[in-house]
Amino acid sequence: MFALAACGNSEKTEGSSSGGGAESDGIQEITIKISHVVAENTPKHQGALKMKEVIEEESGGKIKVQVYPNSSLFGDKDEYQNLVADNVQFILPDMSKLVGNDPGFNIPAMPFLFETDEAANAFWDGEKGKEIFQRLEKDGVLGQAMWPNGAKHMTNDKKPITKPEDLKGMKIRTQGGQLLEALYDELGAGSASIPFGELYTALQQGTVDGQENTFSNIESKKFDEVQKYMTIMGHTRVDYALLTNTKFWDSLNEETKAVVQKGVDEGTKLARESAKQLNDDALAKLKENGQVEINELSDAEIEAFKKALAPVYDEYAEVIGKDIIEDAESK
Ligand code: LMR
Repeated sequence: MFALAACGNSEKTEGSSSGGGAESDGIQEITIKISHVVAENTPKHQGALKMKEVIEEESGGKIKVQVYPNSSLFGDKDEYQNLVADNVQFILPDMSKLVGNDPGFNIPAMPFLFETDEAANAFWDGEKGKEIFQRLEKDGVLGQAMWPNGAKHMTNDKKPITKPEDLKGMKIRTQGGQLLEALYDELGAGSASIPFGELYTALQQGTVDGQENTFSNIESKKFDEVQKYMTIMGHTRVDYALLTNTKFWDSLNEETKAVVQKGVDEGTKLARESAKQLNDDALAKLKENGQVEINELSDAEIEAFKKALAPVYDEYAEVIGKDIIEDAESK
């Protein structure tokens, strides 16, 4: 676990503190808001609940933690700016939504880069991953940890996808632009980035033909009700950046900070431990529901996608930085 948060800033800010300043002894009485966009039965929400449990317990109830799932406080479009403004103290965006802040956040969209959650964790816990997080400090945002969700798979309403050519002419929803957009361009498909909170309706109304996501996001948001096909391919990933803001962080005294940090560490541990199981359970439920035809790609079919996507891989290795990609590949 790592904490990149800047410490030792003597400037006092009000932040979200409702009592006690950073200078006073003892745990401050504050309320912390955690906002995210996914459902309850996901590693992100379960990790956030763990943070709440640990922080409230360790602070003897002095710190209250409110967790807002399902874009109920802020959605994809406004959560980052509200974090910067300290209207919320923690958010957990899918990194593909941060590519406009720094190209390093294209990493989870690099086709077939990480084989396991553990490899992705190791990259973001390492020196290069930390460097990418640190680049958000210019906004007053502190990257605290990476939480994995896992590999993404494609769903669509048009036809079974088993080879790159099958995507031609389709319109696919993505989490963000840049690499994900280039990836679908390369496959002859169009793409549109649509907030997660609007995705079910967009699929239902045919604004887009398909989308890519983890099993736990597909199942918990019932996308199988509005999609006919799912291809198990694991070409890209959903990985989250647990972010806080400097205004809030610097308003905490050392004792309070230690309690919040413990919540961050325990939440991270639980999210990391539960991600794979939640995806396995969700796949089993999707099979049981029987609403989507499921195609699992063979090794040869995966190879065909790797070959088709090699140009974007090379192009974005340059954009992200070859040293960073080499480091990721070594995990
Ligand atoms: C999506 O927008 O599809 C996902 O990134 C949502 C999430 O946060 O897992």
